[in-house]
Amino acid sequence: MTALNPGGWRPEMTAAGGADDNTTFTGNRALMLEEALIFEIGSTATTGVDFDEAAAPADLGALARTAPIGLPGLSEAETVRHYTRLSRQNYAIDLGLFPLGSCTMKHNPRLNEKVARMAGFADAHPLQPQETVQGAYAVIHELAEWLITLTGMHSVAMSPKAGAHGELCGILCIKAALEARGEDRRVILVPESAHGTNPATAAFAGFTVEDIPATEAGRVNLEALKARLGPDVAGVMITNPNTCGLFERDMKAISDAVHAAGGYVYCDGANFNAIVGRVRPGDLGVDAMHINLHKTFSTPHGGGGPGSGPVVLSEALAPFAPLPFVTKHAEGFRLIEEESAGEDHPQTFGRMTAFHGQMGMFTRALTYILSHGADGLKQVAEDAVLNANYVLSSLEDVLDAPFAASGPCMHEALFSDKGLAEGFSTLDIAKGLIDEGYHPMTVYFPLVVHGAMLVEPTETESKAALDQFIGALRSIAMRAKNGDPALKSAPHFAPRARLDETAAARKPILAWNETATAPGTPSLSEIGGS
Ligand SMILES: Cc1ncc(COP(=O)(O)O)c(C=O)c1O
Repeated sequence: MTALNPGGWRPEMTAAGGADDNTTFTGNRALMLEEALIFEIGSTATTGVDFDEAAAPADLGALARTAPIGLPGLSEAETVRHYTRLSRQNYAIDLGLFPLGSCTMKHNPRLNEKVARMAGFADAHPLQPQETVQGAYAVIHELAEWLITLTGMHSVAMSPKAGAHGELCGILCIKAALEARGEDRRVILVPESAHGTNPATAAFAGFTVEDIPATEAGRVNLEALKARLGPDVAGVMITNPNTCGLFERDMKAISDAVHAAGGYVYCDGANFNAIVGRVRPGDLGVDAMHINLHKTFSTPHGGGGPGSGPVVLSEALAPFAPLPFVTKHAEGFRLIEEESAGEDHPQTFGRMTAFHGQMGMFTRALTYILSHGADGLKQVAEDAVLNANYVLSSLEDVLDAPFAASGPCMHEALFSDKGLAEGFSTLDIAKGLIDEGYHPMTVYFPLVVHGAMLVEPTETESKAALDQFIGALRSIAMRAKNGDPALKSAPHFAPRARLDETAAARKPILAWNETATAPGTPSLSEIGGS
């Protein structure tokens, strides 16, 4: 069949391209857009709006402006076009596969958006009288029931606003439980394979963090953990599945040992999408676990939000859960707050958020759960794991997969920089992916692997989409192994060339001023921009 677009990628294509001859494997040339600064388009001497001279008060006294306002004067059309053109430089899950490991950037079904935008949910005000928001409370309550059922836990605190916020909630429950027991345990053990937010949370809550080493196979070293347990240990924080993409098979043995030593088990459940419907953390002895609704139950959270991190709790920790929460009664739903907590909830550690939590996320997550059903959710986990293993096994011959021998991976595939040509690194591969029209995968994380590349394809990608991504990554990996010099200067087709990442991070130019650069800040060309 004659290809209508000979430059475009087709499923049967396997040959590698290369940026040096102005081609890419995918046929993409990044996004090929360039946009001037808004100050360069509009003049500060003009305005896009006509003001009625007479409408302005003649004498503003001390409030009168002494210097020009300095805003670029653009018409509405020019302004809209500028920001729309800029927005097209954003990579988005609606443009293509987003392989970021540990972030679960999966397709967010449009049905979720439709439901979340229903006025009864979207326009509800948190201070409305309770009898006028019974539908919203019903959503929170039904979602809470689902989370309890799926995790096999006793109860759930719905208000935390993100994964890390949920971690803090769980750790504060542990702290309150220890205080109630009259015990001053100060140490939280965190395995090397845990997510970075875990030690940060424990330290933020005032605990001392101690590392537990990983085994050669990338899992928690059970013997090392057992050896460290003692009367000063408040608990452990374990990410499961962990950041190497592996299931912690010793989880039950870990929980039993920690409980026997008087501690609590916190599980980072941000990667729950790999096991939802298959494994119930409650059966593994977990005392507290946050669920990133914005990962497992859709709505990608790239760019800072919105997130939602409900925390499921064991019976031992449930009395310490934060307010407010929704309860069901014969006459309807009730929001339990400080005034109404009374004798029923005297041990709560307090309040983490002003109101109930992220209503928009609750509606999206419940819509996702109900539209999949229990069997569909099980398939979510199976497909997420299948897709990650497809990526892993398809690239194992060109990229080092350090834990391939540890058994199938879970939701994400991990590679290292071992075997690349002298002078070539993970960063070169990440930059090469930009030229192929993809957002790079997570790089240099987890720290236990040198030059780590963590790829999470998610369950929402088709085989064709995976094949295209695998082809692109294979092509770049081959170029990195063969020492293709053009890869060292990738990206070639993006709006910005390769930046000096250190200068860009440490001396970012975040504000425009007339002299273009503030004293001491490097110019765009100095940090490698073009
Ligand atoms: C394993 C793990 N734990 C915790 C978090 C923190 O979640 P959040 O970014 O919502 O605070 C993430 C983030 O994606 C994660 O991947």
